[in-house]
Amino acid sequence: MSSPISAWSHASQERVQTILDSYPEPRSAIMPLLYIASLEHDRVSPEAMRQVAELTGVTPAQVASVASFYTMFKRDGVGEYLVSVCTSISCFLRGADDVLEVVEDATGARRGETSSDGTFTVEHVECIGSCGGAPAVQVNYELIEGVSTDNGRKLVAWLKDTKPQVVLADEMQQLFGGSRSFDWGGPEPEGAIAPVPAFGPYGSSGEGR
Ligand code: FES
Repeated sequence: MSSPISAWSHASQERVQTILDSYPEPRSAIMPLLYIASLEHDRVSPEAMRQVAELTGVTPAQVASVASFYTMFKRDGVGEYLVSVCTSISCFLRGADDVLEVVEDATGARRGETSSDGTFTVEHVECIGSCGGAPAVQVNYELIEGVSTDNGRKLVAWLKDTKPQVVLADEMQQLFGGSRSFDWGGPEPEGAIAPVPAFGPYGSSGEGR
């Protein structure tokens, strides 16, 4: 029987096997496999959910119930850069709503929408665990803390102008960030090449594609 993912990249197919081998029950691998499917389909499409269902021995409806519960599984397409602005209480008190408005104006995408050229998707998100560095923003899940309205605008302009293939939290923090939650963290040389979260021991987003 042919593999449901024979059209996927070799790196993705290998990663799928590594993940499946890590769990005694294939169904436990639904979530990491959905991320890989996101890379292959640019979103968690119905076809992606069918493939993950086949790989894990559950029904497509069961995969859909997982995918629809977690907001980080994007069932609609997202732009090249997913800009997430935290608007929970600490960030709100530090001006996150204004940062979000600036980001919307600069990208041409309202929250929950993608810009007409497909470059940006903007969303507001609940606490992303960086309250001490509020307001916190992520680009493709790479974190920047202490973002002012002015720097929010500059961040979007920089993304438009330089179109980085890899976005690096450390670089963006240095260019556009302010005070951080912690100063003692080590450098993080791996960034993101796609609006899909990294999945820990299996490597950063899209690594090796
Ligand atoms: S409230 Fe924004 S990171 Fe916690």
